[in-house]
This record gives sequence, structure tokens and C-alpha cells, in this order.
Amino acid sequence: MKFDTGFKNEYVAKYVKPSMQYQDVFTEEQLKELAEFMFRKTQTWRTSPTGNLFFRGNFKTLASELVVPIIKDIVKEEIDFDKVTTYSGNFFHTPHQYGIHTDMPEIDNTFEEDDITYRSLLIPLYLEPKHNKSKIVFYDQRVVDSGCTFDNGGWKSTTHYRSFDDYTLIDNVYTMQQGWCDIETINKMTEDEFVKHELFRAPSPIERYNGLTIESSFDWQPGSLYTFDTAAVHSSTIGKPYFKCKGGLRISLITKRDYDNFK
Ligand SMILES: [Fe+2]
Repeated sequence: MKFDTGFKNEYVAKYVKPSMQYQDVFTEEQLKELAEFMFRKTQTWRTSPTGNLFFRGNFKTLASELVVPIIKDIVKEEIDFDKVTTYSGNFFHTPHQYGIHTDMPEIDNTFEEDDITYRSLLIPLYLEPKHNKSKIVFYDQRVVDSGCTFDNGGWKSTTHYRSFDDYTLIDNVYTMQQGWCDIETINKMTEDEFVKHELFRAPSPIERYNGLTIESSFDWQPGSLYTFDTAAVHSSTIGKPYFKCKGGLRISLITKRDYDNFK
């Protein structure tokens, strides 16, 4: 995948849409089946230094047997599964909330040169304790470029992604309201926004969100399906009481570029 001008123009013209939550999509039984798939039918796993466990592989079977048949009609207004050429992503089992990031591939990714990210799916599988209330937060900003993390104010995230302390240095930022724009860190998040979306339970300091504006936040509920732009900036909170672990499935849908219309 190459993040050139044609990619960026096509992405914003065709694939920038609001983030969504669909409730009560998966039954307990279906979630259990997905968790079984995670532990028994994926191909590889790895741990991260911070205690995350990731599983990947066999995603075509996963999607075609356990995901697409269930969600196809529900998301038909926004996703045409006939367009999808590759299913990417991972299962995760984590003791943490996630910091602020996008899910775009790394600069040196192994996707085909004519691939483009179409849409991402997020499916929470389980949560301990079950009565934990935590959120996933989506921001207006899309970074139409390789993946990155927003790490202002210390503790950097432990990914291979580009890490930014100074968000004004991030190129290729797009919002539906402003089009192509810079992140103006001089615009601080208000205390009201911070509290309304429960970011005080993230638990990063408010300064970490300087220059970001919130599009939506949703309760993190097993059974729900979230759909969002792969380039959309997002994060999650650890909630109340702190969760001990949560499991989920992220699938990034990939399609082919339209070189005739976007050079
Ligand atoms: Fe993510």
C-alpha cells in the first residue's frame, strides 16, 4: 500500500464517513464462536511488552463464515462486501485501554501496491468485569497516511507506528468539516468535552488531546459492532471499575485503488 497523492485523494473522496455503532448485532453464542476462533483457528500470535496478546491469520475464513453473513444486511448502506479484496486485522486480548492512534498500515507494509483501506470493523468479544463501563472514542481527525500514535506528554505507546509528541508535525490530516488541515494544538480540549466522553478514565492528561476534536464516543459493549475509517483517530478508556481484560476483533477491509480516476 502506497500513501501517495492518488491514494489520499481517493480515500477522502470515497472512504471518509462517520464512525458508527450498531447494537445487539452478535449473540452470546456468536461471540463465543468468535473467541473460539481466536484461540484455536488463527495462524500466529504474539505478545507485546505491555501484556497484550494478538492473534492473526485465517481472516478470510473468519470473515466469510462468522462475520460477513451476520453483518452484511445491517451495514449495507455503508459497506459493500463485494468490493472487499482482502481482510486484514487482528484479535486482541488486552489488560489496557488503547491510546490515541489510527489503524492504518505501517510505512513498510506488505499490502499490494494497488490496495487501499476501505473501512474498519471492531467487534468487542468479552470484558472482565462484565459491568465495567468503558468507551471507545472517535475523533474528527483522519490521518490519511501510514499509521501513527499521538503521544504528547510522555509514556509513548509500544507499537511500531510513527509516534508523535508534537501533533503539528503530522501531515495529511483531514476532517469532514475542514477538509485538509493541520492539527492546531493551540486549541485545547475543553474540560466539558473531556468529562462528557469520560476521557478522565482513559487515563491520559487532558493535554494529550490538544488539537483533537471528538466526533463520537460509544460504550464498549460486547454484541455491538463499530465501523469506522481506518484513518480515523480513535482511543479507548479503561472505564469504571477498571477492566482487568477485554477481548476484541478488528478487521480492516481492503479494496483496490481506482487509478483511472485518482492519480
Ligand atoms: Fe485501533
